[in-house]
Amino acid sequence: MSENSVSPLEIEDLSLDEAELLDEILNEFGESRRRFLGQSSAAIASALILEFVAKRNAFAGTLESLPAPLSEENAVSVAFKVNGVQKSLTLDSRVVLLDALRERLALTGTKKGCDHGQCGACTVMVDGRRVLSCLTLTAQCDGKEITTVEGLAKGAELHPMQTAFVKHDGFQCGFCTPGQICSAVALMQEAKNGELSYASTDFRQKPRAVNLSDDEIRERMSGNLCRCGAYPNIVDAIREVHTGKPTDPLGSQGSVVPMEASDAAL
Ligand code: FES
Ligand code: FES
Repeated sequence: MSENSVSPLEIEDLSLDEAELLDEILNEFGESRRRFLGQSSAAIASALILEFVAKRNAFAGTLESLPAPLSEENAVSVAFKVNGVQKSLTLDSRVVLLDALRERLALTGTKKGCDHGQCGACTVMVDGRRVLSCLTLTAQCDGKEITTVEGLAKGAELHPMQTAFVKHDGFQCGFCTPGQICSAVALMQEAKNGELSYASTDFRQKPRAVNLSDDEIRERMSGNLCRCGAYPNIVDAIREVHTGKPTDPLGSQGSVVPMEASDAAL
């Protein structure tokens, strides 16, 4: 072997963390570790791992925001608050809020399910009202306040709705959960405002706080689908936050509850 030749990479050359990361990368490309090591140098593997780590850090929120794509047509500038932090982005006017949150601001708590406004996984709050971020243009949000699931907890203290979801096992795989929780938090304010739903029985009286029966909760949460079928536990969690009273984990049927206690969740 000449002095300048590159020695083949051996697995012993890698630390445990690097070996795990390498496996993660190779899995993504359907490549086997043995084949890759036989053809690679330590320098190539290190570069690959460094790039992977940089991207992962960005998506973990340790970077302020990801760089804009190189080509942008119809660029617009948008300034808004996201979880209380002022953000400014220049992006294609067709970019929806879901993609801006996930791909530009590295806020991946909000999930992309159907991308067609049918599953609710992408629900966030804009000025306190729930919206489907996959159907909301980022440009529409200029000057507004966005709240995502990442913005609900105060430091290490979970939002009461998050605590209730944990207590009542309101999730299984968790994919729909950020949208369910954002939707449920906004729902508390809608009920307080006296906004009616398809399940409301009296449309004649002027708006006042709505007492949420289980039927009301189910109807108002019907835009948030859960493939795991955690619905009964989600209703239990929301009922508990709405009443402010601990709810039997087995749930109750169609109970009507006082409104005042729900203020704690807002
Ligand atoms: Fe937006 Fe399904 S991803 S509704
Ligand atoms: Fe799995 Fe709802 S918890 S989709």
